[in-house]
Amino acid sequence: MTITILGTGYVGLTTAVLFTHAGHTVYAIEPNKERLDIIKSGRSFFYEKGIDELVSSALETGRFFPTDSYDESVEQSEVVISCVGTPDNPDGSSNLTYIYAAARDAIARLRDGAIFVQKSTVPVGTGEKLKKIIATSGKNIPYVSNPEFLSESTAVADSLFYDRLVVGGDDGDALRTILDLYKTIEDKRNDMAAIAGITPLDKPMRHITTTLNSAELIKVSANSLLALKISYANSIAKLADKAGADIKEVMDAVGADERIGKHFLNAGRGYGGGCFPKDVSGLIASGLEYGVDLEIMQAAQSLNESMAGYIVEKMQDAMHGSLQSKKVAVLGLSFKANTSDTRRSPGIKIANMLCKAGADVSVYDPKAIEEAEPELHRRARIADSTEDCITDADAVLVATNWQEFLEYEPRLLAEKMRSDLFIDAINGYNVTDIEAAGLRYIGVGRNGEKAGEEN
Ligand code: UDX
Repeated sequence: MTITILGTGYVGLTTAVLFTHAGHTVYAIEPNKERLDIIKSGRSFFYEKGIDELVSSALETGRFFPTDSYDESVEQSEVVISCVGTPDNPDGSSNLTYIYAAARDAIARLRDGAIFVQKSTVPVGTGEKLKKIIATSGKNIPYVSNPEFLSESTAVADSLFYDRLVVGGDDGDALRTILDLYKTIEDKRNDMAAIAGITPLDKPMRHITTTLNSAELIKVSANSLLALKISYANSIAKLADKAGADIKEVMDAVGADERIGKHFLNAGRGYGGGCFPKDVSGLIASGLEYGVDLEIMQAAQSLNESMAGYIVEKMQDAMHGSLQSKKVAVLGLSFKANTSDTRRSPGIKIANMLCKAGADVSVYDPKAIEEAEPELHRRARIADSTEDCITDADAVLVATNWQEFLEYEPRLLAEKMRSDLFIDAINGYNVTDIEAAGLRYIGVGRNGEKAGEEN
């Protein structure tokens, strides 16, 4: 088949190279010249495990064409897959400017019978609106919603070994065509995993066919439920701090109940990234549009927003009320490990709050410095390494679960620091190990014993 992918972000570029390796001819449209040149040179412009190898080998097949032009690419295609970005508006609703612009540009060029697939996350009801635009074009272009569930840092693995594939729409033939298209990836997934250096997984993959509106709602509901789980864990963590319990022990046992599940119950500095904050606010906005008050998601959102301040306050208390001129090292600026993405990064939010409170802040991240720099407002010192960042610090705060931070020897840390406060904002460390190195440990929901003694 000939396929055009609109947008080359985490979802678009990954999808494009996988379909190329599955044997199709793929055009990938990227309007940004700098990014396009990087892809044409055989690399990705973002950091993601295995993607560079898949991009360079896709180019070698002679069937992968990164381009900035809708002409030719779209005109020749039997399937167009929209993977353009949906940033949020200041009011929290989704900004669909790129969605509509890309769809209009594609519909104008698509031939009769070609299928338009929406992979970008859009609010429920968007597909129906786009179908009206298709109808006014007078063309027969079936519209399929095919939400994406990949996580950054495991984008390739998630796109090869998924739990479920969802397609929604009202044209049965088009839905079958898209499911068959994905089967071509499934057939070659082990070969592609080998190129990407990813260990193959043997997991059952469910194919789910739904209505258009259901497919759109599945995506945001799934992400919002995961965000809700995190906020739930964080609210119990606040209680654990006061009541004298350890949130790790609590959630470990809570998650052992298969009905609940152990994932996304890790308390800490809260969720960030390009998806959860946006999908939660997008769902709230969708609710308002349809007259439904999603109070539960509003609570999840405000709890999440409170976490950075909660951690800074704990830090301030441990430093006898003031952070003025205290040397603080913040390790981790990406919103999670193994990505350079800094969108809604809790580490950056905390670093900026610490600067505002008068602390002398240094920051470090193994991959995200470049992306973080504009958001740091030049107030924090950017260190060259973990060691450089922590040297002479009064307090070290870890905000991202990068392996290199988790493996850093606590005794070495204690030697390099000038004082002894260790803030584990990801609840990733063993309290005993940190304390054995002579450091004072503060986690999120893990200082229960002390609070319990005071009560
Ligand atoms: C998420 C969804 O997982 C994915 O299915 C969807 O397609 C896109 O959105 P992503 O944003 O890449 O993926 O990252 P994810 O691993 O889900 O983490 C999101 C945020 O939640 C990160 O900041 C992470 O640190 C935080 N998190 C995650 C927690 O604070 N606690 C947890 O238990 C899990």
